[in-house]
Amino acid sequence: MNVLDSELALADLLQAGYEPVDDSQHADVILFNTCSVRQHAEDKIYSALGRLKHIKRQRPGTIIGVLGCMAQRERQTILHRAPHVDLVVGPGQLARLPELIRRVEAGEGPIVELSLDRRADAHGTVRASFLQHDPPRMAAVRPIRQQAMVRIMFGCDKFCTYCIVPAVRGPEQSRPAEKIVAEVRRLAEDGCLEVTLLGQTVNSYRDTSGERPVALADLLAELNEIEGLRRLKFVTSHPRHITTDLICAVRDLPKVSPYLHVPAQSGSDRILKRMRRGYTAGRYREMLSEIRVAIPEAAVTSDFIVGFPGETEEDYRQTVELLSESRFKNSFIFKYSPRPKTKAVELYEDDVPDKIKRQRNNELLAIQNAISLEDAQAWVGRQAEILVEGPSKAARKKRGDDETIQLVGRTVCDRIVVFDGRQELTGTILPVTIEKVDAFTLFGRADPSRASRQAESR
Ligand code: 5AD
Ligand code: SF4
Repeated sequence: MNVLDSELALADLLQAGYEPVDDSQHADVILFNTCSVRQHAEDKIYSALGRLKHIKRQRPGTIIGVLGCMAQRERQTILHRAPHVDLVVGPGQLARLPELIRRVEAGEGPIVELSLDRRADAHGTVRASFLQHDPPRMAAVRPIRQQAMVRIMFGCDKFCTYCIVPAVRGPEQSRPAEKIVAEVRRLAEDGCLEVTLLGQTVNSYRDTSGERPVALADLLAELNEIEGLRRLKFVTSHPRHITTDLICAVRDLPKVSPYLHVPAQSGSDRILKRMRRGYTAGRYREMLSEIRVAIPEAAVTSDFIVGFPGETEEDYRQTVELLSESRFKNSFIFKYSPRPKTKAVELYEDDVPDKIKRQRNNELLAIQNAISLEDAQAWVGRQAEILVEGPSKAARKKRGDDETIQLVGRTVCDRIVVFDGRQELTGTILPVTIEKVDAFTLFGRADPSRASRQAESR
C-alpha cells in the first residue's frame, strides 16, 4: 500500500512540475513516506530525519516532509522531535500534497495536515476525512509499465488488538467497482500485463454503490475479461473472508493467479482471541484445506507475530505446529511491537522478553525456510512462466555493457526467478526452465529461441 501511495504521490508531483533527483543533496523537496506497523520502522525515520539536519542548515529553503501512517500517528510530535520538518501529511490527505508543498514554499510552514481520529466525530465525517485518492496512472513512475498495483479499498475496520492500521488509515471504504474496472482497463491499454489489487483486508471488498453489491469474486470475474491483461493477484486476504465463491473464482478464472496471502498470525486459540482475529486455529485449518482441495497448485503465504502478550511456550508450540503443517510458500514473521493506543497496549503487558521473541522468530523462520526450500525444489526441471521485471540486483551493481545480463522475474505464484538474458526481455512473459533453487529464488534458463522472439515482438 505504501509503495502505491509513493507512486501516486510521485506522479502528482511530476504533474505539478517537480522532477526526481538522484541524491537528496540536490533536492528542493525531500519526502519520507512512512510506516507505523512496528516501532522499528518509525525509529528509522527519526534517524533519517536526524541525518538531514545539516542539509537544512546548508540550504534552509529545502522542504522536508513526513507522509503516511507515521505522520497520522505521531502528528505534532514529529515537529517537536525534528523541528526542521516542514510538512506532516497523513495517508488520507495525500491528494493534497502538491498544494501543501506550494503553501510551504510560500512561507506558510510548518503544515500538519491529518485526517480525523476515529472517535473524533460521526463515522461518516471521519470516513470523509480520509480522502480517496486514486489519480490517473502514469506508467513512467512505475518500475515497469507491465506491472501495476490498484487499490480497491481504503482503511480497515477489523481492529486486531495489536494493529495500528485502523487508527492511521481510517474506516474501511471500498472503491466503486466501475472505477476499478475503468482503471484496470486503462492500465491494460497502456501495456500493463499484471495487476495486483490492494486492500488491508482485500477479500472483504464490497461495493454497494450500484444496483447489486459487488464482492471480490465478482470484481475478479469482471477484470478477467479485460483484453491485454494477463495476470491478476490480490493482497492481503483475511482468513474470515475466504469464501467458497472466492476460492472458485481463483480456481476458475484463467487470469487470476493461484496465489493467496492469508495471514494466520498465531496457531493458539487463546492468543488469536487476545488478538481479536475472529477465527480459531481449527477454522484457519479448514479454510486452508478448502483452498488446497480446490486449487492443489495454489501458493499460500502467511504472516505470524511471535511474542504477543501472554504467549507461553505452549501457545508458541501451537504456532510452530500450524506453520509446520500448513506448507506456506513463505511466511513473514514479526516480533510483537507494542503500538501506543492499540487495544493490546491498553489490555496487556508486553511480557515476553525480547530474547524469547528473537528466539521464536528465528526458529519459526528456520522451519519456514526449510519448507520453502522443499517447495522450491519441486520446481527443478520444470518450466515456469515468468514476467520479467528487469536486471537483478547483482546485474544493476555491475553496470557493464554486456548484452546478456542476469534478469529477475516472477511466476504467477510470486516466486522469484533469476536467469540470464538480454535486457530487452524486461516486461515480457516467457517460459524459463528451472535448474536449481534456494529457499527464496528459482534459478533457470530461458529457451533462447523463444526469448529472442519475445524481445523482438515488443
Ligand atoms: N507488531 C508486530 N507485527 C505486527 N503486524 C501488525 N502489527 C504488528 C505489531 N504491532 C504484522 C502482522 C501483519 C503484518 C503486516 O504486520 O503480522 O499481518
Ligand atoms: Fe491490521 Fe487486522 Fe486490519 Fe490487518 S485486518 S490491517 S492486521 S487491523
